[in-house]
Amino acid sequence: MMKKFLLSGFILIEALAVSVNGQSSSSQKTLKEAFAGKFLIGCADDLTSNNDAYQASIKAQYDIVTPENCMKPQPIHPSENTYNFKTTDAMVDWCEKNGLKVWGHTLAWHSQTPAWFFQAVNPKTEEVQPPRQPGGMRFDPNAPRLTMDEMWARSIKGEMASKKVALKRLEKHIKTVVGRYKGRIIGWDVFNESIVDGGDGTTEGLRTFSWYKVAGPEVLTKAFKWAHQADPKAKLYYNDYNIEQGAVKNKGKHASSMLLLKRLLKEGAPITGVGIQGHWHLDTNLADVEKAIENYASLGLKVSITELDVTATGDNSGAFGVNQGARKIPAENYIKQAEVYKKLFEIFMRHSDVIERVTFWGLSDTRSWRRGQDALLFDGQLNPKPAYNAVIETGMAK
Ligand code: GLA
Repeated sequence: MMKKFLLSGFILIEALAVSVNGQSSSSQKTLKEAFAGKFLIGCADDLTSNNDAYQASIKAQYDIVTPENCMKPQPIHPSENTYNFKTTDAMVDWCEKNGLKVWGHTLAWHSQTPAWFFQAVNPKTEEVQPPRQPGGMRFDPNAPRLTMDEMWARSIKGEMASKKVALKRLEKHIKTVVGRYKGRIIGWDVFNESIVDGGDGTTEGLRTFSWYKVAGPEVLTKAFKWAHQADPKAKLYYNDYNIEQGAVKNKGKHASSMLLLKRLLKEGAPITGVGIQGHWHLDTNLADVEKAIENYASLGLKVSITELDVTATGDNSGAFGVNQGARKIPAENYIKQAEVYKKLFEIFMRHSDVIERVTFWGLSDTRSWRRGQDALLFDGQLNPKPAYNAVIETGMAK
């Protein structure tokens, strides 16, 4: 098996030397060609610093781009009266010019969201946070480790905003951002990562800080309604990591996600789909992945894999603070990685009636938040890895 993959991976590298650089070779399909008619293939990037090879790869391999960072609340709306649309405008323009679609990420989240949304009184000036003093922030190894709730509470200056004020701010944020790109961005991650890790699945398990503390559980339904008002044709998703976990036994984070989604539907949220982020590793439970897709489909929702990567080393399971990987990754790990990718895409193909999109989180092993864990289909020189071959073969077997 290993020999077969190594060999086919090697032949593929030869065959793809041309197509990866943008000119499609007749013998080998690119990712988007291999899955055409089944689901969209995407990548994540802000498109701010791509050389020709990366731009050619984006155009050849993908149907759709998700901005990796520039649309998150912090960069796009750093203070109450400041929006930064420059990077997003440029990326949307580039995608349109080059025939690519765009997915919006993300309207509401507990992370990368500035404190002004939650503070009763905000400074009138553009600068919300005081500038850091040079050398002022020192890591203190003896300081107690703060929980996420505590860190969030510390970030709030002065009184917390009332529920009414916070909701008004979120409404304005969503309507401004979605409205600006109406008809140009095909869909949005409306809420990202609302569910805590480690719950038993008997409740929705919403986080206990940020939007959920200030505005209550109904903030999700309202956010979906505002996004729909701003662009009635846009697809609207709930997006989260590890929400497939526990699907087979209907436990844990998956069971919580089902409770949350059922409530949103009952409350009339115009939700169209669920984003399973897909930050996975060599031992990810694939039966859970398939069962989760089936369970979401049973609610009448579409599904996308929104942030796919499979680490070739390390015990990553979707969050920060994981093992960042060994220095040297054994060759057999890349073969195992190819097998996992193949099985995943076989699952996606079996459910291509409900899967709308599979997006890889990054562009190559060096253009990835999992740098050092070699989680994507292309190495740092954009050469296709055995996993690329395995994925293409799965698409071509359709
Ligand atoms: C989460 C977010 C992404 C990104 C990754 C890490 O999955 O949804 O936007 O921040 O974490 O890069």
